[in-house]
Amino acid sequence: MTETLLVGTEVADRIATVTIQRPEKLNALNREVLDALDAAFTALESRDDVGVVIVTGAGDRAFVAGADIGALVEMSPLSGKEISAHGQAIFRRIERFRCPVIAAVNGFALGGGCELALACHVRVASTAARFGLPEVGLGIIPGYGGTVRLSRLIGLGRAVELTLTGAQVKADEALRIGLVTHVVEPAELMDKARELAGAMASKGPLAIRMALEAIHHAQDASTDEAMRYEASLFGLLAASDDMREGMTAFLEKRKPDFRGA
Ligand code: COA
Repeated sequence: MTETLLVGTEVADRIATVTIQRPEKLNALNREVLDALDAAFTALESRDDVGVVIVTGAGDRAFVAGADIGALVEMSPLSGKEISAHGQAIFRRIERFRCPVIAAVNGFALGGGCELALACHVRVASTAARFGLPEVGLGIIPGYGGTVRLSRLIGLGRAVELTLTGAQVKADEALRIGLVTHVVEPAELMDKARELAGAMASKGPLAIRMALEAIHHAQDASTDEAMRYEASLFGLLAASDDMREGMTAFLEKRKPDFRGA
């Protein structure tokens, strides 16, 4: 493990596993945990040997049970705005990370924990996972992007209902409504996450990066603008060694040896 004790990082086979490690508080996000998470991504930003990141929570009860309520209770209007913007910036950075980020949700993913999972590119869950945005029950609203991302993922009607009721969603329901893409037994969760990560890590790193870039650009752009952007990135990849390697390997009936250039 590297970085701080609050967030650990392990790297193997081009896959980094980032683990939030505050299990006695169900991995609740206080300032120190958020900053350690940010630092973990900073350390991974420049590592050529990392092609996919998996984010998970320590222990068998929680992914992340939300922002630390003990730290929020004293907030003022100004500090509240800053707390929200700080978490938003870190989660946005994860969403725009240069390579895929997979959330392996092993238990409670509530409030900020649900929002962290939403900021990741792919979500897999164990049967023990529980998702929800309970903030309105505390007299606040989701402040780390939940009001923005949930409706984009599962549709407006379901997102509004979940946000306004604060209800918890079990793993099988999360799968049904598209909040996660796979549900497996707890003991199989990390294997499933690594299987998906491995499939992505074996592809051309530049292509993976550009695909993410195009998909995210399309979220905020008009259809015509998004198509233009897609065409530009498509064309740009023709300048890469990876494109030549990928196609040549296909024609030569061998596995490609991508270099990310
Ligand atoms: N912030 C701070 N501490 C939290 C926390 C949070 N979001 N979520 C859990 N904890 C702490 C508890 O206070 C408790 O600490 P303690 O042992 O020092 O008392 C510890 O984690 C274990 O949680 P506990 O509530 O005893 O477990 P439980 O099984 O009874 O309940 C939950 C689990 C997830 C249902 C419950 O902890 C909960 O509702 N958490 C808050 C969820 C939330 O509202 N998140 C959004 C915050 S904006």
